[in-house]
Amino acid sequence: MSQIVIRPNGPLEGTIQVGGAKNAALKLMAASLLAEGEYHLRNVPAITDVDTMAELLTCMGVAVTRPAPHEVILRRGADCGYEAPYELVERMRASIVVLGPLLGRVGRARVAMPGGDDFGSRPIDMHLSGLEQMGATFEVRHGYIEATADQLLGARIVLEFPSVGATENLLLAAVLAKGTTFIENAAREPEIADLAAFLNRMGAMIVGAGTSTIEIEGVEDLEPADHTVIPDRIEAATYLAAVALAGGEITIEGARPDHMDMLIRKLGDMGMRIAPSSSGLWALANRRLMSVDVSTLPYPGIATDYKPLFVTMLSVADGIAIVTENLFAGRFRYVSELIRMGADIRTEGRHAVVRGVERLSGAPVRASDIRAGAALVVAGLAAEGETVVADAEHIDRGYEEFPERLRSLGAQVFRADDASDGG
Ligand code: UD1
Repeated sequence: MSQIVIRPNGPLEGTIQVGGAKNAALKLMAASLLAEGEYHLRNVPAITDVDTMAELLTCMGVAVTRPAPHEVILRRGADCGYEAPYELVERMRASIVVLGPLLGRVGRARVAMPGGDDFGSRPIDMHLSGLEQMGATFEVRHGYIEATADQLLGARIVLEFPSVGATENLLLAAVLAKGTTFIENAAREPEIADLAAFLNRMGAMIVGAGTSTIEIEGVEDLEPADHTVIPDRIEAATYLAAVALAGGEITIEGARPDHMDMLIRKLGDMGMRIAPSSSGLWALANRRLMSVDVSTLPYPGIATDYKPLFVTMLSVADGIAIVTENLFAGRFRYVSELIRMGADIRTEGRHAVVRGVERLSGAPVRASDIRAGAALVVAGLAAEGETVVADAEHIDRGYEEFPERLRSLGAQVFRADDASDGG
């Protein structure tokens, strides 16, 4: 069990480099199941979810190596396994994204049913129904989805909700299907456009990725490609929240402001100054934040992954805010931890009422997932006294060297072992 210790140390200052997007890198790696040969991915973050995806692909016979810290080479041979074991799917729900490419290329898949997690229940009915419309058949046996498809066929699929995972699974299946597939009400996240760009480089014929209608003309065969992962907008948002909470002035190199429009607008409404710079984003926080209401929505709305950061910022802002979660019921588990730090927050169903207090008070708290964990660390920057975030391994799933990077901006954030060494 790992812990991160945070001691307030005044405003942040300096330049930080944002890494590659976790939610893009994992799906790009899964795309290697689609064609034999060698793939070279760059700007891949060194995080444990990437290690888990590497482990999963290794089980299926893909050789994964890391020639440099942010590079991954995947070699997919002629023989490919088709099973995603429970132990890995349980560790990382995104493992389910192998279903589409396995069905498209191998014609069968055996994937453990993902369970619930700290976001509450997360069904995969839209993934399965879309694939079924393309001709796949499913059986659930002993906790595993057993899927088969002799030849997937193009179909017109209308999603009930713009699910990121379902859009990606269908995209990865449709590229090798016979005929044309339309995904309507598709998710529009930049990570989906990145996946489509990679698939097109592999020889796929996809238009409209990044919009609500994606058209995929199936091709006979694909070939491996090289690709550079887009920057992680959620990681960049985390550094913006850090400076919002600690005060100061930072530059986030590599951040893509065009992927973060709504977030930047909201943070501006809260009193931060943020502007594109030649290398990314510049941000200044030199006064108390003001409360604003926040409602999560699929992209380009405010991402649900930003929400723990918003709730944390609002807990020390001037005024009262209503935060509404429209994606995942029950994604408020970290709130009780913020309350232990002195925040004044009430939750009711999908809503949280956050009454800003002057200052939080450092306390021992527990991370329940990646983003909640990161939010508690940045909360510690705005707290009086020491905060210790337990179960910090959740944070390492999605953030590379989080304490080190915050320290490079002047924050006092350490792993518990380093902190006890007098760090
Ligand atoms: C992805 C992201 C996650 C982000 C989320 C929403 C990855 C690895 N994870 O998760 O960080 O918070 O998008 O932006 O990329 N749903 C169904 N049935 C389905 C599929 C989804 O009801 O078959 C529901 C979910 O329960 C949820 C909503 O749709 O309420 C959105 O989920 P989805 O967009 O699929 O999220 P993920 O792809 O799991």
